[in-house]
Amino acid sequence: MRKLKQTDPEIYNLIKEEEKRQEEVLEMIPSENYTSKAVMEALGSVLTNKYSEGYPKKRYYQGNTIIDSVEILAEERAKKLFGVSYVNVQPYSGSPANTAVYLALLKPFKDKIMGLSLAFGGHLTHGSPVSISGKYYKVVPYHLDKNGLIDYDEVEKLALKEKPKIIVCGATAYPRIIDFKRFGKISDRVGAYLLADISHIAGLIVAGAHPSPVPYAHIVMTTTHKTLRGPRGAIIMVTGEGLKKDSQLGEKIDKAVFPGLQGGPHDNQTAAIAVSLLEAGFPSFKKYSQQVVKNAKVLAEELRKFKFNLVSGGTDNHLLLIDLSNRKVNGALAAFALEVAGIVVNKNAVPNDPMPPFYPSGIRLGTPVLTTRGMKEKEMVKIAEWINQVIEEIKGGRLQNGFGKLTTREKRSEFWKEFKRKIVRNKKLLEINRQVKEFCSNFPVP
Ligand SMILES: Cc1ncc(COP(=O)(O)O)c(C=O)c1O
Repeated sequence: MRKLKQTDPEIYNLIKEEEKRQEEVLEMIPSENYTSKAVMEALGSVLTNKYSEGYPKKRYYQGNTIIDSVEILAEERAKKLFGVSYVNVQPYSGSPANTAVYLALLKPFKDKIMGLSLAFGGHLTHGSPVSISGKYYKVVPYHLDKNGLIDYDEVEKLALKEKPKIIVCGATAYPRIIDFKRFGKISDRVGAYLLADISHIAGLIVAGAHPSPVPYAHIVMTTTHKTLRGPRGAIIMVTGEGLKKDSQLGEKIDKAVFPGLQGGPHDNQTAAIAVSLLEAGFPSFKKYSQQVVKNAKVLAEELRKFKFNLVSGGTDNHLLLIDLSNRKVNGALAAFALEVAGIVVNKNAVPNDPMPPFYPSGIRLGTPVLTTRGMKEKEMVKIAEWINQVIEEIKGGRLQNGFGKLTTREKRSEFWKEFKRKIVRNKKLLEINRQVKEFCSNFPVP
């Protein structure tokens, strides 16, 4: 059989280029990770050829005995790893997984979801008006307080007043420990289901580097491709508390995933999830996750020494959210310039951001990939220095000075083009890029 290189050299070459890029940059987007070879092998296996609509031992197609074993293994490993009673491993990704939970439990246009506002670090699927979660269901957003911490008193007050059917706890850009116990008390008081979306912190939870929501939440959802270091995908879990509240919860969720929302599961993805769940139980994974947090804390401390303004003042997990307004640098421009220097982060809104989402005031960065590559505290000190050098290089220049004052979309976009044109040729940034490449060559990717 012809290999990819012969059949489709265009795609082959693009994959090779991406492989090289991933090796040569400091990948610091906190929702990303580099999976193991074993996970990749399962993902690229013949399991992609199979159709298996339904669930183990209840399929609509023949030839699924082996697939059943794969799916059951994935379920059993998730149950053991997280200590839950019921698992669905079929969601294609995190967004459909959250959507399936809503489909299972809510009446459209009637029932309410309460979730952390997108502008304050929640995910699109936690009730944003541009997502199905905000279009089909009533939404009550909660926020962070002035210290950048979840305002639990506001959550309680809103929950008592609005009586949501589901309270979502979990976030996409929140650097602190989430008090799942407090969320549990609030949801019990108002009779809501508590959905803990642990997509970002699942790997930390299994390693004991962040408290688990399992004793308090009814449903726990996680993507598998972030700190958990698996393939893209998601799992929905029902806890003991969940079954106590609603003995039919597992069946309701299964029905919502298939046939409610999805068709046939991606069996190659299920197998790769099973592999990552096995790996996440290894002692080396526990050490890895603890190092992720240690690295993030050192990075935060070092950046604070350079007067970076960290939302909430620091971090307890794998990510940092930096408000760059005090440095007179816009988040979008900073993210672009950092990439020119070989440091990949994402632009991000900060609480009460006066700027629009495309040009937010902050950046979000994290340590899962760096730690997978074996970097430790010492390397974080160096990386903080580089980040500071990049921001120093672009702050207050002719382009930066003007940006905050540009109010129309056209003017901003013109400015943006001019900024990009200049910054890709900036000598200082290109020199940092050279150093970053050399540095990265000491830390092999899996
Ligand atoms: C907290 C949270 N939930 C859900 C998702 C959605 O996952 P996906 O991008 O796989 O749909 C994300 C992704 O960033 C997330 O951060």
